[in-house]
Amino acid sequence: MTCFDEGSMTSDYARYLAAKTTVDDRALSQHVLAELRRLMPAGAPRVLEVGAGLGTMVARLMDWGVVGAGEYILLDADRRLLDCSCRWLCDWAAARGLRSYLLPDGLQVGELRVRLVHGELGRYLEAAHGAPADVLIANAVLDLVDVPAVLPGLLRLLVPGGVYWFTINYDGETIFAPSHPLDDQVMYAYHRDMDERFRYGRPAGDSRTGRRLFHYLRAAGAPALAAGSSDWVVSVGPDGNYPGDEAYFLRCILNTIQNALRSRPDRVEPADLADWLAVRGRQLDAGELVYIAHQLDFVGRSPG
Ligand SMILES: C[S@@+](CC[C@H](N)C(=O)[O-])C[C@H]1O[C@@H](n2cnc3c(N)ncnc32)[C@H](O)[C@@H]1O
Repeated sequence: MTCFDEGSMTSDYARYLAAKTTVDDRALSQHVLAELRRLMPAGAPRVLEVGAGLGTMVARLMDWGVVGAGEYILLDADRRLLDCSCRWLCDWAAARGLRSYLLPDGLQVGELRVRLVHGELGRYLEAAHGAPADVLIANAVLDLVDVPAVLPGLLRLLVPGGVYWFTINYDGETIFAPSHPLDDQVMYAYHRDMDERFRYGRPAGDSRTGRRLFHYLRAAGAPALAAGSSDWVVSVGPDGNYPGDEAYFLRCILNTIQNALRSRPDRVEPADLADWLAVRGRQLDAGELVYIAHQLDFVGRSPG
C-alpha cells in the first residue's frame, strides 16, 4: 500500500489501523453482529461511520456480506488518513476482483458508493447535514470522545428508529502476560492519562467507556438491543509468529503507552517505565508477549 511507504506519522498510523484489522476481526462480538444483521435495513441503506480511519470496516462489512449496496460515508478528522483510505480501499477491492473507480468525493466499489468526509465529530454534529443515515457505526472511537456530550447529537444523525452499531469500546482492563511487577502502576497511570485527555479542544476519552455505555445509551432513549464483549486477544500462533502484522500492532500499543507516560514522571518513574518497556519489547521480539484488552460492543435503535 503506497500510503504506508511515505515515512510520515499518518503512514505509521495507517499501518497500525491496517494491522488492527485481523485483531478486530477476531474480537468483534458475533452475538452483537448477528443482531446487527437482523436489524440491517434491506435494499441500499445510507451508512455513516464516524472516526472511520482507513476504512477497514467498510471492507470488512462487504467481505462479511453485511453491506453491499447503497451509500457508505467515512467521516474522519484526519484528512491524510482519508487519502490513504481511498488508496487502501482501491487495493483491497482489486485484490478481491471487485470493480472500483474513483469519484470526486470518494470511490465506487461494486454497488456501494463510498464517500469520504473530512471533519471533526463535534463540529460535524454542530453543522447542518443532508439526509439522515439509516445505520451509524463507530469502531474503536467512542472511547476517544466525550460520550455523554456527543451521544444525543450522534443519534440525531440517524433516521428515527435507525440502527447504531458501536463497537470496540475500551473498558478499563488490560492484561499483559507474563506479568510484570510494574503492570498495575503502568496501567493505572495510562488509564488516568486516557481519562484526562483533551483533543480538538474537548475532553477526549474515558478508560471505562464500555461499561458506561449501557447507562449512556439508556439515558439517550436508545438502550442497547444487544451487547457483548469484543476483547482484543493477541498472541503468537502455533508457528511461533504473531498473525498478519500483529507484532507491529503490539509495538504500536507499547509506543502509545510510552508516549502517554513519558511526560508523567510523577506517575511512573522514568527508569521504571524504561525497564517495563524494555522487558515488554524483548518479550514481543521473542514471541512471548500476550496482550488482552477488554472491550464491549453495542447495537440498538435511535429514539423514535
Ligand atoms: C482508533 S482509530 C479507529 C479507526 C477505525 N474506526 C478503525 O477501527 O480502524 C480512531 C479514529 O478516529 C478519528 N477521530 C478521533 N477523534 C475524532 C474526532 N473528534 N472527530 C473525528 N474523527 C476522530 C481518528 O482520526 C482515527 O482515525
